[in-house]
Amino acid sequence: MKLLAVASEIHPLIKTGGLADVVGALPAALSRHGWPVITLVPGYPAVMKRIDRTGAKGRAAKRYPALFGVDAKLIRASYEGRDLLILDAPGLYDREGGPYLDMAGHDWTDNWRRYAALAAVGADLAAGGLRHFQPDVVHVHDWQAALTLAYMRHGRARHVPGVLTIHNLAFQGRFEPGIFPALGLPDETYSVDGVEYYGGVGYLKAGIQYADAITTVSPSYAREITTGEWGMGLDGLLRARGGALHGIVNGIDTQEWNPSTDADLAARFTAKTIGGRARNRAAVEKSFGLDSDGSLLVTIVSRLTWQKGMDILASQIDAIAGMGIRIALLGAGDAGIEGQLLAAASRHRGRIGLRLGYDEAAAHLLQGGADAILIPSRTEPCGLTQLYGLRYGCVPIVARTGGLADTVIDANEAALGQQVATGVQFGPLSADSLLAALARAQALHADAPTWAAIQRAGMTADFSWDRSAARYAALFGQLVAAKRAAGVAESLAA
Ligand code: ADP
Ligand code: GLC
Repeated sequence: MKLLAVASEIHPLIKTGGLADVVGALPAALSRHGWPVITLVPGYPAVMKRIDRTGAKGRAAKRYPALFGVDAKLIRASYEGRDLLILDAPGLYDREGGPYLDMAGHDWTDNWRRYAALAAVGADLAAGGLRHFQPDVVHVHDWQAALTLAYMRHGRARHVPGVLTIHNLAFQGRFEPGIFPALGLPDETYSVDGVEYYGGVGYLKAGIQYADAITTVSPSYAREITTGEWGMGLDGLLRARGGALHGIVNGIDTQEWNPSTDADLAARFTAKTIGGRARNRAAVEKSFGLDSDGSLLVTIVSRLTWQKGMDILASQIDAIAGMGIRIALLGAGDAGIEGQLLAAASRHRGRIGLRLGYDEAAAHLLQGGADAILIPSRTEPCGLTQLYGLRYGCVPIVARTGGLADTVIDANEAALGQQVATGVQFGPLSADSLLAALARAQALHADAPTWAAIQRAGMTADFSWDRSAARYAALFGQLVAAKRAAGVAESLAA
């Protein structure tokens, strides 16, 4: 069996968030379950540069001389064990800025075209467009890849099973109706049971409509998105497709995130040598300009957005500093929140340390040195930083929502009694519940044996991809069997 994955990010080549971590880590686990993966990704500068450096840049595996008006080619490459097809289309992807935003932070105005092109090529590959490669299933991630399924259903790949994974329903790929003719889809697809969405074109909506199966990244989030509160306009369709909707929780790359081998740490450690964390804590204190007084040191590694509850955090910084808690925050995002945090850091020198920007190595050090990681999200499809925290003995303090609710065991009396608690959960999210959770964490931290037991329970739990990859593999296998059965029935009827 062979899987084609289509995605707009893949760690370690290009990453804006957890999507990249998942797309980068799942293939190795899936191949152990009988599903080798080739991943189609856009040839952004960051991708092309790294591929060049490995010397893997080969001849074009296929040319598309007029792909949405630009010259494009597919390059077959591999990078650190990942099999890739890179869509090298300079007219679409070779520009300074991020994958989705220009240097000024605005969406690229031709994002509809950039990701329709990715999708059209994905569908071509699904239809056997590349010699010697016929995928048995196509797995598309988020809105950027979702239109692949629309092209597949209306082209030669209509019998190949397609799976959509929703990593975040908040990002939907909604565009003006005027782009529709340029997509090259049949006219009748501009309808409620096609790609039309609130009077425009919806890429994620189209994916949900056409997928044989839809997965999202935790069971709780799978339930939440069928409600009016968190369905973000798509709850009706998701309820209608409820029989095809599955929640499969993310795992983590246990090689990349391994405290016993992590080169970004000042000192490596295991659950048995957890004392080694002290040197990492000292390194965090130094690099974030924090006092060394043994008080609870809480880290935050996050996009600074409303979804992540960062506005509430920013509004409570003075209260948190007043509790004697230290904070080391690494993040970037909303300019207003960044400004509030900068001002707070200068008010509370030694107590609130801040680094604005994106820094992969610092993210590792913070997990290895802070006592706890705070994740006060309003909604969280899965969340990975709490999983990294668990593995690194950095106790997660999380809002009870989505994947956070599914992966952290709250230190309530029952869990403490049975030594299975791994963190602190709180909810519903508010300033009061946030401060109460921090106070609870502070009390647990002051009781050293209890805190050590919580750290140990998290560090020894299994968050590898193995179990979840088995679930994806089982789902893919069922879809292949169902399509075969439908094919047989069709040919008997003919
Ligand atoms: P999301 O994808 O919604 O942002 P996740 O928790 O799934 O949330 O994944 C976030 C990923 O991005 C993690 O790997 C986290 O370590 C990383 N990350 C977030 N912000 C930063 C930052 N400022 N610097 C480095 N890594 C970051
Ligand atoms: C999204 C979600 C996050 C999830 C990640 C990977 O970015 O916001 O919760 O962990 O995708 O699935």
